[in-house]
Amino acid sequence: MSAKILITRKLPPDVERRAETFFTIKRNKGDVPMDQARLVELADGQDGILATVTDRIDAATIERLPATIRIIANFAVGTDHVDLEAAARRNIIVTNTPDVLTDATADIALLLLLGAARGAAQGMAAIRENKWANWAPTGMLGISLTGKRLGILGMGRIGQAIAKRAQAFGMKIHYHNRRPVETVDATFHATLDELLEQSDFLSINCASTAQTRGMINARTLALLPKGAIVVNTARGDIIDDDALIGAVKNGHLAAIGLDVFNNEPNIDPGYRALPNAFLLPHLGSATLETRNAMGFRALDNLEAFFVGKPPRDRVV
Ligand code: DGY
Repeated sequence: MSAKILITRKLPPDVERRAETFFTIKRNKGDVPMDQARLVELADGQDGILATVTDRIDAATIERLPATIRIIANFAVGTDHVDLEAAARRNIIVTNTPDVLTDATADIALLLLLGAARGAAQGMAAIRENKWANWAPTGMLGISLTGKRLGILGMGRIGQAIAKRAQAFGMKIHYHNRRPVETVDATFHATLDELLEQSDFLSINCASTAQTRGMINARTLALLPKGAIVVNTARGDIIDDDALIGAVKNGHLAAIGLDVFNNEPNIDPGYRALPNAFLLPHLGSATLETRNAMGFRALDNLEAFFVGKPPRDRVV
């Protein structure tokens, strides 16, 4: 008999078709994010869960999962929505989907850098609201990327892919990471403070952990040169929203570009009031090719586990 898997959200058709050939699937029919109680209820009688970033699988949820659940395969590279220690205590394996969303997410980071630097949000508003009076030599002036210093916080796969793209735009790359990365042509800074002092643009690309949450706050933002631009494709909770909104409002930052937020989708309304904020609704991995690849990778992990092989992307 095939293993029983709860799939918590609707997945691309090719992924769902493959899942059905290998497993007995239970679905979240309405495709609405589930609260913890609903997740525990639907997990009843299942052997594994294919989860997404909209599932908050905290310690209390993991304690209440039925004993039959042996694996949580994430449809995401980030695993901050799962309490990994609680999963380890229950001997539940957790996997993620690295590599396959690197390029798509790096592309969105460049879109944020360009969108923020060139005032794309204001430009689009002018067109849509029919407020574009005429072309003017001094109208809607943005900031060039060419020749500027891009500080990358977190030089993992996505940070490196952003570095490569930004170099093609003529940017000079600086970064802070737990360790220097030999393979990148960039200046390493041993501390975040040092990186910020040298960054005309800052791209946030570290994982959300106890150490990084709230790392970009009033004190650290003040270290950026006046007129800097901050973009985030990692996780919203690395940023203190009040501090970031304040730094844009008081003119310390020229603009921001965000694809991820605290408390998605109920973002801090202060962001909507900033004309120089280029905002996207967590689109980093949102291409059909990438979402297919993420689904296939999650299924690779589940299939390996249920035929008795080690899943390649085990994080716990
Ligand atoms: C991830 O995989 O962690 C992304 O945030 C999903 O787009």
